[in-house]
Amino acid sequence: MLGFSQEIFCARRKKIFENMEGSVMVLPAAPVSMKSRDTEFRYRADSELFYLTGVVDPGSLAVLNPNGDSGSFVLFIQPRDEEKERWDGKRLGLDEAKDIFCADEVYSLEDLEKYLPRLLSPAETIFFRLGSGSRIEQLVIQSLTTARIGRSRRILGPQSVADPGMVLDPMRIVKDPEEVERIRQAAVVTVQAYQEMLPAIRPGVGEWEIEAVLDSEFRKRGAWGPAYTTIVGSGSNSTILHYVSNNCTLENGDLVLVDAGAEVDLYNADITRTLPISGRFSDRQNDIYEIVLCANREAIETIRPGVSVDQIHLNSLDVLIQGLMELGILNGDKDKIIEDEIYKPFFPHQTSHWLGLDVHDVGDYTFGKKPRILEPGMVLTVEPGLYFIPSPVSSIEVKDEVLSEYIGIGVRIEDDVLVTSDGNEVLTASLPVTAEEIESLVGSIRD
Ligand code: GLY
Ligand code: MN
Ligand code: MN
Repeated sequence: MLGFSQEIFCARRKKIFENMEGSVMVLPAAPVSMKSRDTEFRYRADSELFYLTGVVDPGSLAVLNPNGDSGSFVLFIQPRDEEKERWDGKRLGLDEAKDIFCADEVYSLEDLEKYLPRLLSPAETIFFRLGSGSRIEQLVIQSLTTARIGRSRRILGPQSVADPGMVLDPMRIVKDPEEVERIRQAAVVTVQAYQEMLPAIRPGVGEWEIEAVLDSEFRKRGAWGPAYTTIVGSGSNSTILHYVSNNCTLENGDLVLVDAGAEVDLYNADITRTLPISGRFSDRQNDIYEIVLCANREAIETIRPGVSVDQIHLNSLDVLIQGLMELGILNGDKDKIIEDEIYKPFFPHQTSHWLGLDVHDVGDYTFGKKPRILEPGMVLTVEPGLYFIPSPVSSIEVKDEVLSEYIGIGVRIEDDVLVTSDGNEVLTASLPVTAEEIESLVGSIRD
């Protein structure tokens, strides 16, 4: 249960049951993914199954049924197996699992075919994510077929399958205090790891070494590891949004963009800082850094309950475009630049995404046709950036001298922000961000 109490999961199930009348939800564990032949990737639990049950064990399956007085939670788990447990570690027994997860019934996965059809049969709708092609999916489809055939004999049964996210995402978008605590912890670990890493930035160091410092600091501090593959992009690699090769050497005079986050109890942080490898930003690098920092501050200033998530992006975009116009990189009418998306080659992504159990967490950015309004308990990133991709990858024609001076520069500055009742709290605020602060910290182990 990763330190969460049973009551939290019981309360979440009770709440989701309010929106599930006449339906059943089937949540399988994340599949074990193979790295090569018989070697597995390190297992990461499924966010939805964990959110509603606390279960992190591979091979499990929860069936949640709100129909009945207090609803029910049936759990299937992998059976005990002395030989397998010798290789992979202990599995829970049925009674043990029932106790730990507060389940109404626990069955062995070997009995799936025996019990699952019966559990699905009273539902009109099955909340289940299609597309895995698993044995569970076959049983879900079979239950629809059985019900369709039986309907002529007045036997009722499931008629539709819906995505569990339809009822889960609106709940997950607002974090409860226990979740905020884990995201806060992930942010603390990530900030500490960056503080250990900054002195190591200097010419001649490999991008992979910077990645290794961060990932090792995450683990040292008890995090599960990196929330996503750590990005260390030096020189023009800083213009590649999700660069993960991390196999180049840091060159004097270049920037290095570092985007990393720790995962703590399945909750994530996501921070980006852009650093001068020499220890000093050049004038051109500083031009861009100051614009992006200003957009980051403006985005953070915007965040408070009642404001739309679109407004954060629009305010940050306004600062970025204004800055590019003042440098002479963009010219003409600002509204037209926005309308025709002329800025897009330099800023191709959004300013924010939700943050939580998933790094790019669930939850729509619109509500019906309207943009989502911020509420206390939401957690999101702010990550404006400007990227000047070298040709031939770039679609921009570098015909003027102004633009050519910026080619190869990529700057992103990313922080994690909690919406509070009267504004916001920057969970990553303790990590320095101004150019002066960054210059004083980078490469301080230089010899
Ligand atoms: N690290 C991925 C992102 O910032 O969205
Ligand atoms: Mn992000
Ligand atoms: Mn990031």
